[in-house]
Amino acid sequence: MSLLVSPSILAADPLNLEAGLRAIEKSGADWVHVDVMDGHFVPNLSFGLPLIKALKNKTQLPLDVHIMVANPDAVAAAYVQAGADYLSFHAEASRDPCALIKHIHSLGAKAGMAINPETGVELASPLLKQLDMLLVMAVTPGFGGQSLLPTVFSKLEAIGSRAKASNTLLAVDGGVNLANATKLRKFGADILVAGSAFFKADSKTAFVEALKSVRMV
Ligand code: DX5
Ligand code: ZN
Repeated sequence: MSLLVSPSILAADPLNLEAGLRAIEKSGADWVHVDVMDGHFVPNLSFGLPLIKALKNKTQLPLDVHIMVANPDAVAAAYVQAGADYLSFHAEASRDPCALIKHIHSLGAKAGMAINPETGVELASPLLKQLDMLLVMAVTPGFGGQSLLPTVFSKLEAIGSRAKASNTLLAVDGGVNLANATKLRKFGADILVAGSAFFKADSKTAFVEALKSVRMV
C-alpha cells in the first residue's frame, strides 16, 4: 500500500482555516487530520463539532478526526454525524473500546484507536481485527510542534506484523517530518500525520511528494 499523508489542520492559521484546508487539498495529501481537544483529557482546547461540519461541507477529502477527549464513548456518535470519515478515540479514555469500535462502525465510519506514548501496544493487540487504524502517538497529545519521541519506532516494530495480518493501518501522529519519515515507513507506518512540518514547508506539494516517495524497505 502506498503511504497516506494526513496533514493536521491544527497547525494552520486559526484565523484562516479555509486557506489551510485549500493548502491541504492542493498539496495532493490524502486526508485532513482534525485534532479535537477538550481541555480535560489533554490540557488544551482546539476544535469541536461546528468545525467538523464546516469542513465536511467544504471538502471532498476524508476527514480523519482524532478526539482527545475524556468521554469518547459518549460523544463519538456526534463526531461521526458531523462528518468524521475516520474517528480515532483514545484507548486511555474509553470505558469499553470494543463496544465503541462497534458503535462507530454501526454509524458508518471507520474506527481508529489512538495510544499515548506511555501506553503499550499490547493493549491494542486484541482489538486489531476490529480496528481500521491504530494511531500511534509519537508525542504526548495536546500540542502541535513537539519533537517525535524515538520510542515510537520500537512500538511500530512490536505491532507491525500483527497489524498487517489484521489489515489494520498504522498511523503515526506527532513530530513527523522529512527527517524521520523514512525510518517511520521502514518500521511499518502506513499513514503519516504532519502538522507543523506540513504548514512550514515552502512547497507543500513537494513535502507530500517527498513523504510519499519514501520506500518501505
Ligand atoms: C498532537 C496532535 C497532532 C498534532 C501534530 O496532540 O494530535 O495531530 O497536530 O502536529 P505536529 O506535526 O506539529 O506534531
Ligand atoms: Zn492528532
